[in-house]
Amino acid sequence: MSTTVDAPTRHTVRSIRTRKGGDPIVCLTAYTTPMARALDPHVDLLLVGDSLGMVLYGFDSTLPVTLEMMIAHGAAVVRGAPSACIVVDLPFGAYQESPEAAFRAAARVMKETGAAAVKLEGGAEMAATVGFLAERGIPVLGHVGLLPQSVNAAGGFRAHGRDAQEAERILADARAIDAAGAFALVVEGVIEPLGRRITEAVAAPTIGIGASPACDGQILVAEDALGLFTDFQPKFVKRYAALGDEIGRAAAAYAAEVRARRFPGAEHCFGAGGAA
Ligand code: KIV
Repeated sequence: MSTTVDAPTRHTVRSIRTRKGGDPIVCLTAYTTPMARALDPHVDLLLVGDSLGMVLYGFDSTLPVTLEMMIAHGAAVVRGAPSACIVVDLPFGAYQESPEAAFRAAARVMKETGAAAVKLEGGAEMAATVGFLAERGIPVLGHVGLLPQSVNAAGGFRAHGRDAQEAERILADARAIDAAGAFALVVEGVIEPLGRRITEAVAAPTIGIGASPACDGQILVAEDALGLFTDFQPKFVKRYAALGDEIGRAAAAYAAEVRARRFPGAEHCFGAGGAA
C-alpha cells in the first residue's frame, strides 16, 4: 500500500483551451493566499484581477494599480492554489505602449509569481501585442467588451453592444485577439446575444462576466459572489453567501465579549486557571 499522497494536477493553459464547447470553465478572482486556498479545490482558473485595486485597496477604478501590486498578489495566490490555472492581470500602463513594454511587464509577472499566463484588456489595437507575447512563450488571456482600464474613455460602466455598430466592433475585437493567439477570452459587460455571437465566432473558449450563459466558462469577482459588500450589487452578480453580514455579526459579538470581559476566557490564556 502506498503511503504517498498524490499532489493535485494543475489545470493548464492547454487544458483550459481544450474546453471550448465542452464542460463550462469555472473561474473566480483571488488576490490573497487564504482566499486562493479556499477557492482552489472548486475552480479551474483563478484570476488575480486588477479589480483588486477597487476590492482590496478602495480605489475608484483599476487605473492606480501597479505592476508591483499585481506581482505581490500573484505570488500570494500561486502559493495558495496548487491546482487552478493562475492568470495575472497586467495593470494599466504596463503594456499599452508597445509589444516590447508588454513583454517586459509580462516576463516579470511570469518569473516573479509562477503564474501560467497574463491577461490584458483590448481588441484589435492589442492584437499585435497578444501575438508578440504568445510567440515568445507567454500565454495571454484576452479581455473584450467592457474594459475597466478604459472606463474614462468608454464613459463609465455600462453594458456594451446595444448599438449595432458597437456590437460589430466588439465582435471584430474578439476575432482579432483570437486570431492573434489568445488561449481564451474574457467577455465582459455585453448584451447577451453579443456574448453568444462572440462565443460562436471564436476558436478560443470565452469566459463571460455579465455576458451570456452560452460562454464556454464564467467568472465573477469572488468578493461579489461571497456577498462581502452590502452596499452595491451589479445585475450580473449572483450572491452565494452573505459574508459581509456574517463579518459584521462576528465583529459585534467579539466587541461585546471584550467590553464585558468575557473574552479572553481562561482557555485562551497561558498558565491561567491550570490551563497549559
Ligand atoms: O480584474 C478583474 O477582476 C477582471 C475580471 C472581472 C474579469 O478583469
